[in-house]
Amino acid sequence: MLSNLKQQPADKILQLVQMYRDDPRSDKIDLGVGVYKNAEGVTPVMRAIKAAEKQLWETETTKSYTGLAGEPAYQDAMISLVLSSSVARENVAAAATPGGTGAVRQALELIQMASPDATIWISNPTWPNHPSIIKYLGMKMREYRYFDNDSRGVDFEGMLADLAQIPAGDVVLLHGCCHNPTGANLTNAQWAEVIAVLQETGAIPFIDIAYQGFGDGLEEDAAGLRMVASEMPQTLIAASCSKNFGIYRERTGILMVVTQDASLRDVTQGNLAFLNRQNYSFPPDHGARLVTMILDDKALRADWSAELEEVRLGMLALREQLAKELQKLAGSDRFAFLAQHRGMFSRLGATPEQVETLRRDHGIYMVGDSRLNIAGLNKNSVPILAKAIIDVGI
Ligand code: LMR
Repeated sequence: MLSNLKQQPADKILQLVQMYRDDPRSDKIDLGVGVYKNAEGVTPVMRAIKAAEKQLWETETTKSYTGLAGEPAYQDAMISLVLSSSVARENVAAAATPGGTGAVRQALELIQMASPDATIWISNPTWPNHPSIIKYLGMKMREYRYFDNDSRGVDFEGMLADLAQIPAGDVVLLHGCCHNPTGANLTNAQWAEVIAVLQETGAIPFIDIAYQGFGDGLEEDAAGLRMVASEMPQTLIAASCSKNFGIYRERTGILMVVTQDASLRDVTQGNLAFLNRQNYSFPPDHGARLVTMILDDKALRADWSAELEEVRLGMLALREQLAKELQKLAGSDRFAFLAQHRGMFSRLGATPEQVETLRRDHGIYMVGDSRLNIAGLNKNSVPILAKAIIDVGI
């Protein structure tokens, strides 16, 4: 049996983690995988998480199973964090999942159960795991234009033109904020135009939000998504707590399905629970419980959002420093997009050869499509990166 197995292609992002680890150079710079790092290069456990963990250790009396779709309190807390009051609670079905990837996977399986012939439309480019999972599930997939390589902003005209061609019942995968891998995002006015096109065509939005709070703020980053959820008849949302709570390895995410037709909510909820049961029975609870404790406690929540804001502003300052440094070295504004992008990533627009030269000659690691993780920088490494960018001729 096992001899029938073929080698699987390595995940490009995770492969980079290993290459970086194996590089003996002490001055190497890791701008690869999307993990937040502070100025010391450490991915810290957030203060509120530590406090909640201590409290949980003292008070938790059982490790027995939770609900199949996770704890209702976690669902409520996350629905409120992501959707606020944009939709009525009774219009949302939700299930806790192992991380944001788990939510993406469960969403796709739900779509497959409900509408096996639907095509999933992904942005060009998108997070590589999107097409990988869609392909693995044997679902149909197509791309819509998203990134303009010249301006390094959103090719909004191209995007709208492509969205307008999507047939009713197909699914459009959008990034809620902090687009991965480009860093180029829709404005609220553009979200409104996207909604108008989707309403016109009858395509169904599926929003992946993995970086809420990393862009313009917790509320601002969810504004477009909330507009979609309140105005479209059906919306799927995959949310991750990995980044904004810094609990990557706890695998904490949630799939939310919003329907304006409340009579469809119960059957959807039942199917989400069924899917969890088929795939892993009960979702992981530790991270979800910590998130619930933080969101439901005034003091913990205040401390968490203050720390998240420090993280966000730190990344923004690095963006501005890098853009300034490059303006000085290049003598032009052609890197100004770095300060306009939001979130952890920016796509630099370098060729694969230039990315390879950065790695080989400068020990600077970024994903092959020239996505760099801003959080991998600090004040001292920004000038080093800027000089290397100019040196390799980007
Ligand atoms: C990334 O894009 O680097 C992160 O989302 C981590 C991952 O799993 O790929």
